[in-house]
Amino acid sequence: MEQTEIIGHIFKQQFEIEPEVICYAPGRVNLLGDHTDYNDGFVLPAAIDAGTTIAASRRDDDQVVAFAEGYSTNVDCFSLENIAFSHEEMWRNYVRGTLKCLRKSHTNFGGVNLAITGNVPQGAGLSSSASFEMAILKTIVALYQLDLDGVTAALMGQRAENEFVGCQCGIMDQLVSALGLEGHAMLLDCRSLTFKDAPIPDGMVILVVNSNVKRGLVDSEYNARRQQCEEVARILNVPALRDVSLEQLNGAKRNLSQEQYRRARHVVTENARTIATMTAMQTNDVKTLGSLMGQSHDSLRYDYEVTTKELDGLVCIINSVINDAGGVRMTGGGFGGCVVALIPAELEQAVIAAVEAQYSSQFGLEAEIYRCHASTGAFRVGNRNYI
Ligand code: GLA
Repeated sequence: MEQTEIIGHIFKQQFEIEPEVICYAPGRVNLLGDHTDYNDGFVLPAAIDAGTTIAASRRDDDQVVAFAEGYSTNVDCFSLENIAFSHEEMWRNYVRGTLKCLRKSHTNFGGVNLAITGNVPQGAGLSSSASFEMAILKTIVALYQLDLDGVTAALMGQRAENEFVGCQCGIMDQLVSALGLEGHAMLLDCRSLTFKDAPIPDGMVILVVNSNVKRGLVDSEYNARRQQCEEVARILNVPALRDVSLEQLNGAKRNLSQEQYRRARHVVTENARTIATMTAMQTNDVKTLGSLMGQSHDSLRYDYEVTTKELDGLVCIINSVINDAGGVRMTGGGFGGCVVALIPAELEQAVIAAVEAQYSSQFGLEAEIYRCHASTGAFRVGNRNYI
């Protein structure tokens, strides 16, 4: 792996010793089920072949010395005994927040030297932050031989985001970054945290197209959506929107504002679509899969209102090439970022050509196109040079 080599060298330059371990955790793309995870619902993400790689060694004191490649202020140094929020560079808070959460349950680890690099595009909705958090945890677990399973690690990363970084995200990104399976997406029940692996249909490829609209107000808008859902659950007297059927929701319509009703309708129908998509994947039913992806995008566009004109435009451009031979939708939190397309391999070049010919002329922005391979979750790199 190229990143492994690079980060090994950087570590040696920075710390003048060999790293003891190198660990990696991927970003993710979500095939179906957006804004359902924090409603205790269902999601269908896949880990991708881009992620965060960390080379590390133990220290004799309680200091964390972190070097992050590619940032303007790229060194952070703090004591494990006193971990505070950094207002200078956001990347520091993923290290600090994750270690602060780990410290609450595990005190049997000491200081570390870390060299960090990553190739998940930031602000694109591909979970560069979850990959960062899971890579940090994998690294400390490997260095200090801690007992920490993937689900607990994912919950810890989510807690770091919720309590330290200030984003009220759900569990999807961290969980698939920790436990994704090569060649598969994962149907995750975000209440029980149990999951089934969903094979990517034969002959299909995952294309991710970045609209290059940076997610602006995402955190406040994201948190606001979550609050709206919780409010509707309270009005309907259920623990979460997961517990509501469309009939129940329609029956309670008069107790809700128009906006509350539409937000909840997205969540309720998206849960059903996510489960149906799993079945379509298992039976290689590409036509149904494509139709469900299209319905999901429309629901996120009109009911949940988290798309942008650029995301809608990309969906339209790609749909005109694939018709019912695959599917395309926005993916992740929305308000910018990427669309994901699941398409037959033979249409890949035509889709790329259509995006290149139409997107920048319509929207004045350059799209970036990544072909993603559904990949394995976090792991320690098994290189004989590193124990
Ligand atoms: C972000 C969050 C996830 C999830 C998605 C929307 O990626 O981190 O927890 O809520 O948005 O599905």
